[in-house]
Amino acid sequence: MLNYPGFQSATVAQRTDWTSELFSLRISGAKLDFKAGQFTKLALPDTSGQLISRAYSIVNAPMSTNDMLEFLVVANTDGQLTPNLQQLAIGDSIYVGERANGDLTGDIVPKCANDLWLLATGTGIGPFLSLLDDIHLRPRCENIVLVHAVRYQADLVYQYLIKQLVAFYEGRLQYVPIVSREESPYLQGRIPELLENEQLFEQAGVTMTPEQSFVMLCGNPEMIKSTLAPLQALGLEKYRAASGGNIVYERYW
Ligand SMILES: Cc1cc2nc3c(=O)[nH]c(=O)nc-3n(C[C@H](O)[C@H](O)[C@H](O)COP(=O)(O)OP(=O)(O)OC[C@H]3O[C@@H](n4cnc5c(N)ncnc54)[C@H](O)[C@@H]3O)c2cc1C
Ligand SMILES: NC(=O)c1ccc[n+]([C@@H]2O[C@H](COP(=O)([O-])OP(=O)(O)OC[C@H]3O[C@@H](n4cnc5c(N)ncnc54)[C@H](OP(=O)(O)O)[C@@H]3O)[C@@H](O)[C@H]2O)c1
Repeated sequence: MLNYPGFQSATVAQRTDWTSELFSLRISGAKLDFKAGQFTKLALPDTSGQLISRAYSIVNAPMSTNDMLEFLVVANTDGQLTPNLQQLAIGDSIYVGERANGDLTGDIVPKCANDLWLLATGTGIGPFLSLLDDIHLRPRCENIVLVHAVRYQADLVYQYLIKQLVAFYEGRLQYVPIVSREESPYLQGRIPELLENEQLFEQAGVTMTPEQSFVMLCGNPEMIKSTLAPLQALGLEKYRAASGGNIVYERYW
């Protein structure tokens, strides 16, 4: 493989196809220093040899025992990179960034936060799974609510891991799936409306207050934009390193 500055070569060790568009890649051989909840870049050269790179959240927590990195990706048929990522088979080469970034990390959650809300759409659940799975940083909050909003029930990925996490947290972790485009046993609708009509609070058995709550959002930028209004109406404020606050987010596009 050619050398590209800022990237290291690695190998696809495993893949999981959740739906025709949604898949996970487990990649080995990359050395990456990262905190649970962060993202790095994945890249492949195009036909002219130019490297096409995009940001992807790491789904697993850092592990001292091996160099595996897992990513959850939704294929965009018109996209430049994801159709090629979707074609990758076990043993294929891929480029991985040499650095990780991102603010959806455990150290940003104030020690005094009693309730931690993790609000995700689609692949935005990735960093929250990493965060919850980090044995060193497992959030100590009394209540943790993992909200995953997806179009279809089949998009509710990582059920086996979520079941393990719910059991591990012994009652402190509530998992609240939302399915927007078909009938299901779960909440139906969108995160902003389900906050405004308080159905999310009812479902989780937890409310939100500026004194007690810290909220992380990840995924669709329009969801993030329209969720800020109901959060701010409850008195919550965007987090700033200097002054604190209750809300951090990561937009995927
Ligand atoms: C910090 C960060 C972390 C990210 N983590 C992930 C991740 O873990 N998994 C992931 O699949 N993507 C993630 N993304 C998005 C990713 O970087 C790419 O933008 C995406 O994979 C599309 O790349 P592409 O080259 O195929 O499409 P492009 O040619 O770049 O087209 C991009 C278009 O695809 C749509 N789109 C982009 N990302 C998504 C998405 N996740 N879900 C639905 N529609 C989308 C938007 O309409 C966007 O305008 C992340 C983005 C950022 C900024
Ligand atoms: N080309 C594009 O512009 C574009 C844009 C988005 C997705 N896509 C493609 O669509 C496929 C699936 O994407 P996805 O389902 O993972 O992501 P998604 O479209 O972000 O949907 C995930 C969840 O977010 C909700 N949501 C969407 N917009 C919202 C908003 N403004 N406020 C609150 N909630 C909102 C959706 O509800 P609803 O069902 O009510 O929308 C759904 O429940 C992928 O192939 C992706 O590439 C393409």
